[in-house]
Amino acid sequence: MSFDYHQKTKHSYESIRNSPNHLDWSLQPSALKIYNQFEDIIKLDGKSDIHNFIYRLGGITAKKTYPGTEYFLRTLPSAGALFPVEIYFQVREVKGFKDGIYHFDVANSSVKFLYALDGDGVESAFNDNRAVKGFIILYSTIYYRSSWKYKDRGFRYCLLDCGHALGALEASAYLYNHACVIRYQFDKIMLNKAFGFGDQEFFLSCGILGIPKTDRIETFNMHLEDINPQFERNEMIEMAYQDSLDLISCKSKYTFSEFSFHKEIFEETIFKRRSIREFTTSTITKASYETVLEIALKPVMSDCDEEVQLYCFVNAVEGMERGLYLNGKCLKEGDFRQKAGYFCLEQALGRESAVTFFLTTRSQNYQSAYQKAGIIGHRIYLLSEYLKIGCSGIGAYYDDETKAFLQTDEMILYGVAIGT
Ligand SMILES: Cc1cc2nc3c(=O)[nH]c(=O)nc-3n(C[C@H](O)[C@H](O)[C@H](O)COP(=O)(O)O)c2cc1C
Repeated sequence: MSFDYHQKTKHSYESIRNSPNHLDWSLQPSALKIYNQFEDIIKLDGKSDIHNFIYRLGGITAKKTYPGTEYFLRTLPSAGALFPVEIYFQVREVKGFKDGIYHFDVANSSVKFLYALDGDGVESAFNDNRAVKGFIILYSTIYYRSSWKYKDRGFRYCLLDCGHALGALEASAYLYNHACVIRYQFDKIMLNKAFGFGDQEFFLSCGILGIPKTDRIETFNMHLEDINPQFERNEMIEMAYQDSLDLISCKSKYTFSEFSFHKEIFEETIFKRRSIREFTTSTITKASYETVLEIALKPVMSDCDEEVQLYCFVNAVEGMERGLYLNGKCLKEGDFRQKAGYFCLEQALGRESAVTFFLTTRSQNYQSAYQKAGIIGHRIYLLSEYLKIGCSGIGAYYDDETKAFLQTDEMILYGVAIGT
C-alpha cells in the first residue's frame, strides 16, 4: 500500500544523480510570518506558566550567525532549518487572554491577537462542535518554505516538521500539566479560507487542551487577508494535500501516556535540544536504547491513530548483537553500519550512529501517519538529549532500497539516528 504522492517522490541512487538539486538562495522564503497589520500583542513573559507553555511550542532557542546572514533555531528541529510550520491558537475563557484567535509570532517572542470571538469559533470546524474552554492550537504549513529546497518531496518534510511541532506540544503540555489530545479530523478547508491562506498555506492538525462545554459553536466568521508573500506553486504538493485530506476508518486513541521525567532537567532538555552533526561510532548502553524505544512507542492520544513501525539498525549498543530489529526481535544479525549509512543517502549519520531507526507504515491516512512519525521522532530527539546522547532526524533516504532490506511493503516515512 503506498500513497501515489509518496511513490512519486521516492529517492533512488539514480534519481539523486540524474536530477541534481541546484538552489537559488536569493529565492529562499523567510521562515518567519509576521502579521504587521495587527498591533495587539502579548509579549511572552518567562514569569507566566501559560506564556512559558506557549514559548516551548516553537520558540527560539539559539541563533546562528554567518557572514551576511543569521538564522534561528527553535525548540523544534526542522528539515534544513526551513521551519514550514506556523502556529495559531484559539483561546476561550482563559485568564490573561481575550477570547479570540492568536498567531505565535516566533520572531518577536510574542503572540498577536488576530480576531475576537463573538459567539463563534473554530469549534464549528469539528463534528462535535462543543465550545472548548481552554486552548485549541492549530498547526499549518507554508509549503514553499520546504519545496523551495526539497521540491516535490517537500510535503513529506512539512508533515514530519508538523509532527515534531505536535511532539513539542506534547512535551510542553507534560511540563505544565495539561492534558492534550491531537486532532486530525476537522474541516481544514473551511479554516484555510477563514485564515485567508489561499493556496500557499494549509492546516494539518491541531491540539486541544481544554474542557468541552455543553454549548455548540455553529459558525466561524473570521476572514483574514492573505499575507503570504509570492511563492512558487507546486501542483504535486497541492494535490497530495487534497488527496490526503479525507481520513478513512480512523481509530481514535484516548490512552494517556504517563512520563516520569525529572521536570527541571526535562525543561532544560527542551532548550538544549539540537541535532547532532557527527557521531563518534561509540556504543550506547542497552538501558538507553531500551528507554528510547519504550518512550517512542508509548501511545499518542489522537482522533486518528495510525500504526507506525520502528525498525532499528543496532550498530553499537552494549550487550546487544548488531543487526536489524523490529519490536525487540532481531530480524537479521550482522554489522549493517555501511548499509544503514548508504540507505540514508550515504550520510555518515546513518552509518556512525549507535542506532539508526526507520519508521514505516501501511496506513491509508497519509497525513496522520506521517505526523505521528514526526511525533515519535520528536520523542526520540528529546529523550536522547535527556540521556545525554545525540540525535538527528534523517528525511533523505533511498526509499525502495531501504524497503527491500527491511523486507517490508510499508512506506518508509522517516529515519532517525541516535548515538554519541
Ligand atoms: C524531518 C527532518 C529531517 C531531517 N533530515 C536531515 C538529514 O537528512 N540530514 C541531516 O544532517 N539533518 C537532518 N535534519 C536535521 C535538521 O537539519 C536540523 O533539525 C535543523 O538544522 C535545525 O537544527 P537543530 O535540530 O539543531 O535545532 C532533519 C530534521 C528534521 C526535523
